[in-house]
Amino acid sequence: MKGSRRWFLRTVGGAVATFGSALWAQEATSRQRLSPNDKLGIGFIGVGGMGRGHLGWFLAQPDCDVVALCDVDERALAEAKRMCGDRPVAVYKDYRQLLERKDVDAVVIATPDHWHALIAIHAAEAGKDIYCEKPMTHTIEEGRQLVNAVRRYGRVFQLGTQQRAADHFRRAVELVRSANWAKSSCAVAGSATTRTATMCPNNPCPKS
Ligand SMILES: NC(=O)c1ccc[n+]([C@@H]2O[C@H](COP(=O)([O-])OP(=O)(O)OC[C@H]3O[C@@H](n4cnc5c(N)ncnc54)[C@H](O)[C@@H]3O)[C@@H](O)[C@H]2O)c1
Repeated sequence: MKGSRRWFLRTVGGAVATFGSALWAQEATSRQRLSPNDKLGIGFIGVGGMGRGHLGWFLAQPDCDVVALCDVDERALAEAKRMCGDRPVAVYKDYRQLLERKDVDAVVIATPDHWHALIAIHAAEAGKDIYCEKPMTHTIEEGRQLVNAVRRYGRVFQLGTQQRAADHFRRAVELVRSANWAKSSCAVAGSATTRTATMCPNNPCPKS
């Protein structure tokens, strides 16, 4: 089962999408029950804001072992290592060294955007499955090269676009598609930068 597409998506998708402190409490006992062979070895490339956010969830995932971290910034690396407590986690500044590790089954790539394509292609070549932050690539051509690499090496790739997959977005889509939408009298849309637009049928369109 370990290494299968379904298992990866369930495990990695679950770790990234799961929010709940109960998992932290489960972790200590669950880790003892699973043998190392049952667990997915995870390597993190880029442990800034998003990378450390994901790291927290993966550390709480009972069937994952965080085995290696990589960042070019020593402070980010030190903070991520601190989060791992006394786990034997290796640290690197060069992601290629992390990719050489046989115990890394999958990587989380959370570097700045311009690194995504190259690191993900190298990860696929190294036989790793991949969770990569959005945007997947900078250009369409880079995207094509990455798709080709993932297919050529038979890897699983998941793109991190939480703001599209989260429950509240799915609920909004359901509402739009359902009959309930026709009865709605007002819609409020907001963005991550706090801009909010309210649109009611009898009001003029907002100028901005
Ligand atoms: N899915 C979402 O909702 C969401 C939200 C915010 C950001 N993002 C994406 O996540 C990615 C990371 O964003 P962030 O806010 O965590 O940025 P950040 O700057 O906080 O973290 C990026 C980290 O990558 C490190 N880094 C840079 N080059 C590297 C390399 N070659 N090898 C290893 N590490 C390297 C940096 O030192 C830094 O610590 C971006 O691509 C961003 O677009 C996604």
